[in-house]
Amino acid sequence: MTIRTARTAVVTGASAGVGRAIAVAFARLGWQVALLARGEEGLEGARREIEAAGGRALPIVADVGDADAVFAAAERIERELGPIDVWVNNAMVTVYGCSVDITPEEFAQVTRVTYLGQVHGTLAALRHMRPRNRGAIISIGSALAYRSIPFQAPYCAAKAATRGFIDSLRSELMNENSAITLSMVHLPAVNTPQFDWARNKFDRKLAPVRPIVQPEPIAAAVVRAAFERPREYWVGTSAVKAIAAQMLMPSVADRLLARAGIENETTDEPADPRVPDNLYQAGRGDPGAHGGFDSESRNYAITFNPAWLRAGAAIGLAAGAALIWRLARADRGRRPMISRT
Ligand SMILES: NC(=O)c1ccc[n+]([C@@H]2O[C@H](COP(=O)([O-])OP(=O)(O)OC[C@H]3O[C@@H](n4cnc5c(N)ncnc54)[C@H](OP(=O)(O)O)[C@@H]3O)[C@@H](O)[C@H]2O)c1
Repeated sequence: MTIRTARTAVVTGASAGVGRAIAVAFARLGWQVALLARGEEGLEGARREIEAAGGRALPIVADVGDADAVFAAAERIERELGPIDVWVNNAMVTVYGCSVDITPEEFAQVTRVTYLGQVHGTLAALRHMRPRNRGAIISIGSALAYRSIPFQAPYCAAKAATRGFIDSLRSELMNENSAITLSMVHLPAVNTPQFDWARNKFDRKLAPVRPIVQPEPIAAAVVRAAFERPREYWVGTSAVKAIAAQMLMPSVADRLLARAGIENETTDEPADPRVPDNLYQAGRGDPGAHGGFDSESRNYAITFNPAWLRAGAAIGLAAGAALIWRLARADRGRRPMISRT
């Protein structure tokens, strides 16, 4: 009889950025972590970091846009590490530019990786989790899944599509009384290498829309989601504000974003057209989790569960309705003043 002690997490896009920080955070808790990405150097760097943290890593070169590669990776993980407890879909690519300047092929590639990569990872996880009716799947989302911004249409659309997919699937799992959970963790701007290697049609360097958060507090929120299994978390005040603004006054948000233009998403420095981007192949080297905005990035972020907001709104509505009902009754019970004259 084998006694299984370590739990197993899978993180896609674990060679850099947010995924790298999530993988290390699980390893620090003593979990085994399978790391999926295209770049061998980044995966090797992640493996070293995880082993230095006392964890066990299984790096696998796989393109999440290739469903068979993701299914094969899941088989290998189950064989070598044991049952997958948590699967985190995190990998992404994006293209910055005006929609009319982005080619159909570029739209397709962002969709293939950023949206279909989430679908493939989820289906691969379910192949193994459904027979044992156990497991948590976490989808890394963005405030931009709710509120699209200009000059990143393929990415915003892929994030919104992921939300549509997960919501549909959640009801299907509930329909079969499944114990498997689906959580989405929607992020604010994070200081990751994304802004150095994303395909960029502008002549200025890219930047996250401020305020910027470091990858580690984001990773902490994702690990928390693995334990608390919320429907959604919104991380960072800027994500909460963007989502709330979209829900309450989308036309005002449209105009504000139109007025901000590209200033929000670029720096004053000229872009270097010789630097290769990561749209079709892995970025070069091992950049780690952080991007180039350490000096202006926060080391903390609130983790907001929108279920609290809905519960608060429901209590507020119920209290308001009860008050109106009592006032109406009191009014009906009052006897009319009849003049004696
Ligand atoms: N940074 C932000 O401001 C921000 C804001 C909101 C949400 N997010 C979300 O956070 C997550 C991570 O973003 P990030 O900023 O950390 O991005 P990043 O720094 O660009 O890292 C992207 C990761 O995805 C991997 N990847 C790219 N294409 C892949 C493919 N075809 N197959 C497998 N792996 C692939 C990359 O590794 P290889 O190149 O080696 O394959 C890398 O590990 C994404 O879901 C993103 O939407 C980020």
